[in-house]
Amino acid sequence: MTGLPRKVRAPDFTLMKARSERIVMLTAYDATMARLLDRAGIDILLVGDSLGQVILGLDTTIPVTLDAVIHHTRAVTRGASRALVVADMPFLTYQVSAEEALRNAARLFQEGGAAAVKLEGGRSVADAGLTAAGLPVMGHVGLTPQHVHRLGGMRQQAREEEAAQELIRDALALEDAGAFAVVVEAVPDAVAEAVTSRLKIPTIGIGAGPHCDGQVLVSYDMLGLFDTFVPKFVRQYAQLGELIFDAARNYANDVREGVYPQSAAARRNGAPALVER
Ligand code: KIV
Repeated sequence: MTGLPRKVRAPDFTLMKARSERIVMLTAYDATMARLLDRAGIDILLVGDSLGQVILGLDTTIPVTLDAVIHHTRAVTRGASRALVVADMPFLTYQVSAEEALRNAARLFQEGGAAAVKLEGGRSVADAGLTAAGLPVMGHVGLTPQHVHRLGGMRQQAREEEAAQELIRDALALEDAGAFAVVVEAVPDAVAEAVTSRLKIPTIGIGAGPHCDGQVLVSYDMLGLFDTFVPKFVRQYAQLGELIFDAARNYANDVREGVYPQSAAARRNGAPALVER
């Protein structure tokens, strides 16, 4: 699919699973990053409520509001031309009633321009009424950060047999309810493998080993931008934090020493700007 310029749609992912094609997903929160990730062939851009930590500097995802996710989704959809843009439904925006869930999801589609929404939870949210209304829904089981207080921290889930069976039942309930994919976060590899083999819809793993149908990471983690806490399973494909730090320090030095900007005369004499706009 990576070579295809056409827009990716939710039903494509079941087909990808059937063809054993791995699905690639990253989080995005703004148009510039979305454009880059889209160009790189990322299949799904998730406007995750992880924006609470990596963009807003919060400790958890719980204070993230629907308005904030809509705001960032709008930016990401402007930057993405091929990838499917999925918006996270924030804390308690889909549990109070089916009617409220539908109204809140509708805002992510209409105001944010999302092509799908993601909900945390299994059986409890499988019947939130969104799929019945025809909306593409992605589930999320295992470590669900909106439940951090009940779970007692950001720790691996489904370690015991009973909890693993319950996770499989949750994922099957999401599939039965019409979800098109399920994120499986922070569970043992064998549990992720079992749930992947039981589902017809794809699983997208994060900290869940290599057996899922796809993988997702928080882009700020894999780019080496967010250094407050780096989960053990993250591979950093770049150290952008260091690059930004060096660039900002060099700029500050140049300004303080009068090296930048140059006079018009020096520029006319051929000293090139570092980056032409
Ligand atoms: O909010 C988020 O970024 C997520 C991913 C970690 C799956 O839910």
